[in-house]
Parts: sequence; C-alpha cells; structure tokens
Amino acid sequence: MRRIPSGSTLLVRGARQLLTLRGRGGPRRGAAMRELGVIPDGAVLIQDGIIVSLGPSRRVENLAIARRATEIDAAGRVVAPGFVDSHTHLICGPPRLADYEMRLAGRSYQQIAEAGGGIMASVRAVREMPIRRLTMQAQMTLNSCILHGTTTLEAKSGYGLDETGERKALRAVQALNGKPLDIIPTYLGAHAVPPEYAGRADEYIEWMCSYLMPKIRRRRLARFADVHYERGAFTLEQARRYLAAARDLGFLLKIHASQFAHSGAVRLAVEMGAVSADHLEYSDEEDGRLLAASDTIATLLPGAVFHLGLDRYAPARALIEAGAAVALATDFNPGTCPSCNMQMILSLACAQMRMTPAEAFTAATINGAHALRCADYVGSIETGKQADLVMFDVPDYREIPYHFGVNLVAMTMKNGKILYRKEDMAWDED
Ligand code: NIG
Ligand code: FE
Repeated sequence: MRRIPSGSTLLVRGARQLLTLRGRGGPRRGAAMRELGVIPDGAVLIQDGIIVSLGPSRRVENLAIARRATEIDAAGRVVAPGFVDSHTHLICGPPRLADYEMRLAGRSYQQIAEAGGGIMASVRAVREMPIRRLTMQAQMTLNSCILHGTTTLEAKSGYGLDETGERKALRAVQALNGKPLDIIPTYLGAHAVPPEYAGRADEYIEWMCSYLMPKIRRRRLARFADVHYERGAFTLEQARRYLAAARDLGFLLKIHASQFAHSGAVRLAVEMGAVSADHLEYSDEEDGRLLAASDTIATLLPGAVFHLGLDRYAPARALIEAGAAVALATDFNPGTCPSCNMQMILSLACAQMRMTPAEAFTAATINGAHALRCADYVGSIETGKQADLVMFDVPDYREIPYHFGVNLVAMTMKNGKILYRKEDMAWDED
C-alpha cells in the first residue's frame, strides 16, 4: 500500500538525463519499450514523498514551491525511477556453497537437487532458523538492494513449505515491508514437494489449496501465489489446481515457467490470467504469440542463467518483437542467482539477450511495477507517484548496462527520503 510519509520539499535538479518512463496505460510493449521519456537537464519536485512536478530544470526551479525546496544537485548525471525487482526469493537462508562447487565440477542443477542439495538444502536451513535471524539476513540483502538502486521488490516464501516455515517467512517479509522499501509478498508453497509429502505431491497440493492458502489469505500474508511448474517439481494438473484455488481465494498469480524445458506453462499462465510468467528460457514462438495477446507479463531472469553457467537465455528479442510485455528481475536466491544487483541484470539483458539499454530500463522499472500490480504508485517518474529515484554517476543511461559488474549508483531515494548517497561515504581528507 502507498504510504504518505511526512517530509519536506525537495528539488532534484540538473539531471543530464531524467528518465521519466512516463506514459499512459498498461505495460509497455514493442517499440514503446524503447521510449524512456528522457528530459535533458531535467528536474523533479517532491513534496511529502510524492512527485509534484517534473520537467526541464529551468521551468521547475522557477515554481513558487521550488524556491523553498531543499536542493539536490544531479549535476550532469542520470536520474531514473528506482528499480522494481519483481521476482526474488528474499527469505532464503545461507549461501549454498557445496551446490556451487558441485556445479563448477560439472553436475547439473537437477543432479544437485537429486543428491539432496538444491531447494531442499535451503528448506532444511530455513526451517531451523529463528525468524529473527531470517529477518536480519533479509535486511542485509535489502541494504544491498538499496546500494544498487532497487526501491521496490517482490519477496517469495517457498523455503519453509510446511505451515510454520511458510508463515515464518511471510511474517519476516511483513516485518520488513516499508522499512524502508516496498516489498510485495508472494506465497510459493508449490516450490517443491517437502520431504513429509515425498511421493504424495497431489496430497501436498490439496493441503495447500484447502488449508494453508486460505489461512495465508485471511491473515493477508501474501498478495500473489506462485507455482514452480517443471519436471521434478509440479505437473500441469497440479499447477492448474493450485492456481485455480489461489485465484478463487483472491491471490494474484505468477508462474515459474519453462526454465529448463519447454512446457505448457505459458499457456496455463495466460489461461489462468496470471499477472506474470517468469523465466521463459525454453519458451517458443507460440508462447510469444500467447503472451502478446494477453496481459500476462514475460518476466526474464538472466542472472539465473548466468550463475548456472548455462547458455540458453530467454528469447527476449523474439518476445519483444511478438509484442509481449517484458520485465526483468534478479530471481535473487541462493541456488540460481545470489545477487540483487539490477544493473548487472541490465548488462546481461543487453549482452546476452540483445535487449537495447532502453528496453532493459523499461523492463526493470515500469514493466516490473506492472508485474507487481503497483504501477499506479511506483515504476516511473510522474506526478502523483512516490518519489522513488536513483541517481547514477554517469551522463548517459546507456553506460549503466555497458559498465557491467560495477555499481554506478550515486544516490537512492525512497518516498522522498535519501537512503544512500555516495558522497556521504567519501573518505575524510586530512
Ligand atoms: O527461480 N527453480 C526454481 N526456483 C528458483 C531456484 C530456487 C533455488 O535453487 O533455491 C529459481 O531459479
Ligand atoms: Fe525464482
């Protein structure tokens, strides 16, 4: 939910490029993904955490309220909306270093899972961790999100699987939401079949549909429900049953779709009216057409492909050209993407999936906001929206994907409050 913080009047001025991402209507598709609404020498005026005006600096700074504002000089740099990371497994326990080394030695993600690593290794860890430690660990990740320019994110459960574990994860998200980032919670009970239901996946699905999901909904612990539809996880029928129950309970829907093999996941996502279908490495032309003709957003997660050392990235160009609305997210998790750096995701999107820098920005901001159904208050720099801004230490936005693997954020602002400013971190000179 939108919060209106108390605060003062701020003027961010002199941005060499102000990327507004402004525009009407729903998620951006096709050529509209390349329109960033750039204002040269741009300014943003903020009152009580909300954007009240934007435009060329010369015009905005002459407004009566701008004259009383505290000024932030963006001096020749890029100012953009904060990144919206619409797919993360924020509550996840420790790094999986044994898995990592096994994979470097040549074992596949699936072989490691079969050997007792993978998702189950994280489930064992999360079940044992007290909520206080899970929350503290997530807070460290959120600090890293802030340093790298993310101001809104999604957080999935899915490493508890039993009632105690899932509720613990979602309560941790609830405790962290708004302090200071917006975090949209997703119930991912259908991430894997837990050991207590081994060989009884149908019963596990039924238990979630009839017992745990209604309870989570009543307590407002999650807004979305997500299912991992893949060989070794859940079948088409199980995924359909789970999503139908979730939809009837009032959850919005997401699907982990076609990550390691082509499946009917995209068709199912579209049929069920899912808000997004995520991953899509193995999606085909027909999937592109289905997505293009629907409101379901294609959320691509190139960080997971990179970290797993694979070479099959989602067909971003074909999806964009077909007319699908593409979003980009990290998939932050200890198995496939232990990074929450959205700038690196932009670099991968451009270098490996041939997205243009402009398309990548759209996908990581306004389309990410649509994938979380929060585009009415975040995802672009427009009057009436939350003042969630990032300032980058470069004069041209194309440098952001170009300089891969480095952090170019000079300032992160959430609801008009500066959370991080690089210049405040400078060494004392004496
Ligand atoms: O989105 N593949 C399923 N889920 C996660 C990975 C989870 C894990 O390995 O812990 C993903 O990549
Ligand atoms: Fe994921």
